[in-house]
Formats: sequence, structure tokens, C-alpha cells
Amino acid sequence: MAVHLSGLVKSYGEVHAVRGVDLDIAPGEVVALLGPNGAGKSTTVDMLLGLARPDQGSVAVFGAEPQQAVAQGHVGAMLQAGSLLPDATVGELVAMFAALHRAPLPVEEALERAGISELADRPTGKLSGGQAQRVRFALAVVPDPDLLVLDEPTVGMDVESRRAFWAAMRNLTAAGRTVLFATHYLDEADDYADRVVLMRSGRIIADGTADAIKNQVSGRRIGARIPGADPARLRALPGVSDVAVHGDRVTLDCTDADAALRALLSAYEQASDLEVRSVDLEDAVVALTSAADDQSDEARTGAAHDDAAHSRTDQESRP
Ligand SMILES: Nc1ncnc2c1ncn2[C@@H]1O[C@H](COP(=O)(O)OP(=O)(O)O)[C@@H](O)[C@H]1O
Ligand SMILES: [Mg+2]
Repeated sequence: MAVHLSGLVKSYGEVHAVRGVDLDIAPGEVVALLGPNGAGKSTTVDMLLGLARPDQGSVAVFGAEPQQAVAQGHVGAMLQAGSLLPDATVGELVAMFAALHRAPLPVEEALERAGISELADRPTGKLSGGQAQRVRFALAVVPDPDLLVLDEPTVGMDVESRRAFWAAMRNLTAAGRTVLFATHYLDEADDYADRVVLMRSGRIIADGTADAIKNQVSGRRIGARIPGADPARLRALPGVSDVAVHGDRVTLDCTDADAALRALLSAYEQASDLEVRSVDLEDAVVALTSAADDQSDEARTGAAHDDAAHSRTDQESRP
């Protein structure tokens, strides 16, 4: 295993940041750790890197203690916080980092892999937010690591930088690198990960391919305008797993959309504005994260202030 997390628990005082996380990542997997703010992603990442000590549980990275794996250059990390030495140039900073490792990449190559060759002579104090993120990415790749751990790597990047960043990532993952990246952007998890690990309130609530997570919620969704529809009657239709009614608008989550649609049309001839679509990852995440709330745990202190709508809002409001 590239990463083996077992029974991880971490609290900060009253805040139960991580409450029992088990996760194995095989070499070559690209895994998104997805969840709203406060879900426990960064705390998990910090324990994986040996930057935070678990209250309970254990971490192994390529079979070793995390500090050891990092010291041996097996792991490259890009963290959420951390300032870059403002007086150094980008090239000097990357060279300094390279010197800490046994078998680093040449500086030019690290810059090239991060797509920032043209920034080599720029003082780090003169970078845009997106450029600074890509310099952090160059620092993560300079040890030529087998495992890359990236905490919200594209925060603060504009659309152009995001595209360049993921293009650079694709080159690395095509070369067989193992990657764990935390994100609250659903589209990034959907587009770039082989596997999505969904966290909520310090726990993993779903783990699989983006498609498997979508299927976990239900196959398809039918929308229709039906004045005066009876929710109980809709729910009893074949192939229907869940029903929502807002005024004249009904939404049916379906296990068998073909059967449901036929039954719907014979039950309600007046149904109009019909649409059938696949559940997208956002639908699935909203459903799964609110389902987790239903089984609410006694101590949600950690994330009581945010909810699934949070990631939705962030998603919609970004450029
Ligand atoms: N150093 C810390 N001290 C106190 N609380 C913390 C600390 N780090 C994280 N937390 C809390 O732990 C919870 C999980 O945080 P975090 O792991 O950063 O989540 P995420 O990265 O998913 O947004 C949050 O409620 C956060 O406020
Ligand atoms: Mg975080």
C-alpha cells in the first residue's frame, strides 16, 4: 500500500476533527478527498504527512512512519497554508528545497513539471495567488516523490491557472504517481480522480469511483410538472426510490427510470415538461451528506456550522 490509515482519531479540545478514518491507497491511484469545509480533510492530510499526531490509530506511508517516508523523498506535499520566502526568487526557493532531498529533480525540470519555467527569476513576493500555488506545486514535485499529497491545490487559482495545473498533474499521474488531493470542488473530484473519498464531520461517508458514488444515490432522476400530484402515489410507482414535490414540480429519483416514466405517464396523463437525467456527483454528494446528518452523531461540534450547501455555494460562486 502507498498509504494505510487505520482508525485515525484527532480532536482539538472540544472539536472532533477526525473521528475514525480508515483508508488504503494503492500505488498509482489518484484519490480525491472531497468534503465541505470543516469535514476533516486537512487534519487527515496532516496526520498522513506526520505533521499532526493522531490521538488514536496509525499511519503508514509505503510501509514506513510518515516522517521517514517524507525524509526519504517518497512524499511531496502541498499544504493549504505556508508562506514562501519573499526575498528569494522562485528558482532559488525551489533549489533550496531540492537541496533538502537525496535525489531531487533538477530545478528546471521541477519548474517545467509545474508549468512555471517562465517564473524562475521572479521574486516569490511578486507572485499572484495562482502563481504562488503553482510554486508550491513545484516544491511538492522537486523530491521526485512517488506519492503527492495536495491540500486544496487550486484554491485561489483563476480558470487559466487551474487548467494549467491539472494539465501538469495529468502528466505526472500518467507516469504512475500516486496522488491524494483534498478538494471541495466537485468537478475536480469528478474530472481528475480515479476514486473519490467523501468526508463529512470527521468521517468517510462514501468511497468509490465518482460513478459508483453517483449510483449509490440512484441511477436517474425524472422531473415533471404535475399540478396536484400525490407524493405517496408517486412514491408507490415502480422504479421510484425517492420523491420531492415543490409546488407543481415533482422530482423522482429512480432505480429504473424507464419503468418509472411509463408508470408516471399512465398515472398522470397531465404530466408535462418531462425531463430525465443522470444524477450528477453534486446530487449524490448532497444526498449522501444530508443522509449522514440523519444518522446524526452526538458530537457534531466539529462541523456544526457548515453543510452540504456550503460546497455548492463555493462551487457556484467561484470564477
Ligand atoms: N489546529 C486546530 N485547532 C483547533 N481546531 C482545529 C484545528 N485544525 C482544525 N480544526 C477544526 O477541526 C475541524 C476539521 O478541520 P479541517 O481538518 O481543517 O477540515 P477541512 O480541511 O475539511 O476543511 C474543523 O472544525 C476545524 O475548525
Ligand atoms: Mg482543509
